[in-house]
Amino acid sequence: MTIQEELDATIRELVQPGKGILAADESHPTIAKRFKAVGVESSEEKRREYRNLLLDTAGLGDFVSGVILFEETLGQKSDDGKPLPSIAASQGVIPGIKVDKGKGPMVNAPGDEITEGLDGLAQRLEQYKELGARFAKWRNVYHITDMNPSLAAIEANAEVLARYAAICQSCGIVPIVEPEVLINGSHTIERSADVNEAVIGEVFRALRRHRVEPETMILKPSMVTPGNANGQKASPEEVAEHTLRVFRRVVPAAVPGINFLSGGQTPEEATLNLNAINSGASQPWVLSFSYGRALQEPAQKAWAGISSNKAAAQTALLKRAKLNSLATLGRYSADMEEG
Ligand code: 13P
Repeated sequence: MTIQEELDATIRELVQPGKGILAADESHPTIAKRFKAVGVESSEEKRREYRNLLLDTAGLGDFVSGVILFEETLGQKSDDGKPLPSIAASQGVIPGIKVDKGKGPMVNAPGDEITEGLDGLAQRLEQYKELGARFAKWRNVYHITDMNPSLAAIEANAEVLARYAAICQSCGIVPIVEPEVLINGSHTIERSADVNEAVIGEVFRALRRHRVEPETMILKPSMVTPGNANGQKASPEEVAEHTLRVFRRVVPAAVPGINFLSGGQTPEEATLNLNAINSGASQPWVLSFSYGRALQEPAQKAWAGISSNKAAAQTALLKRAKLNSLATLGRYSADMEEG
């Protein structure tokens, strides 16, 4: 296959109506935090056991087309000695890989952060590809305050994200482009819309500058919501309206899929909001999920680090995957939570 054929085949399999992406790419500190919440100490073996459980959930491939893995998982083996990426692939779930090296403070931009990891990226991608990865993810973060994000942070982060995406495509790896505007803060939904429009607009200008092909990438944005410390909650319909208005202004119709992060919404909120987004007029993109917490939280609680809870944890994961799949089709309702 040529590079172009690889990209075309991967994007076709990843972006399918009714399917989303499972984000299971937590870095060591993040997974340690998630494990701690359910009383589990993070070790290489516990992470392997847990991610093995996620990937061999029977039926996952009916609702999930891809899974984003952390580097460590790419090299780990299943309980019966098979490479973990092959466990996902064998049920039609494409393995992907988080490739950024995390974020840190941006010099001369107080309150803003920038993501690192471009050095040696092409070489790393070749190794990841050999281990089975067919797509990648890079996450930028933007804080909302009265002063942030600054224009410098919006421009510098967009440039880095575009360079990452261009390098991925040159290696036949589909890039997930993730500009996460954080939910933290007391800002209004209008302020979130304004920041998302500026951020995503700049990302697409940079992608164009770097000749990234929009047809073979996925955008992974936040939903437009009020800040989590704003007393006012927005209804799913308001979230849908603001979110879609931003995308219609700045996301080219040539982009096949937009897969949201959950970003601190509860599992039920994330499903309700996704359903509202898919309940109106049809849009040029498949609007789906790439949730981490909103898919995994119930499964982590059911597992609690105890091997004999594996089946219960898999049932919890499959339930969220199925309900979110219905939400991508606008066919979810809250009473389905009981079933
Ligand atoms: P959350 O859905 O938990 O926000 O995670 C998605 C993700 O991959 C963040 O990079």
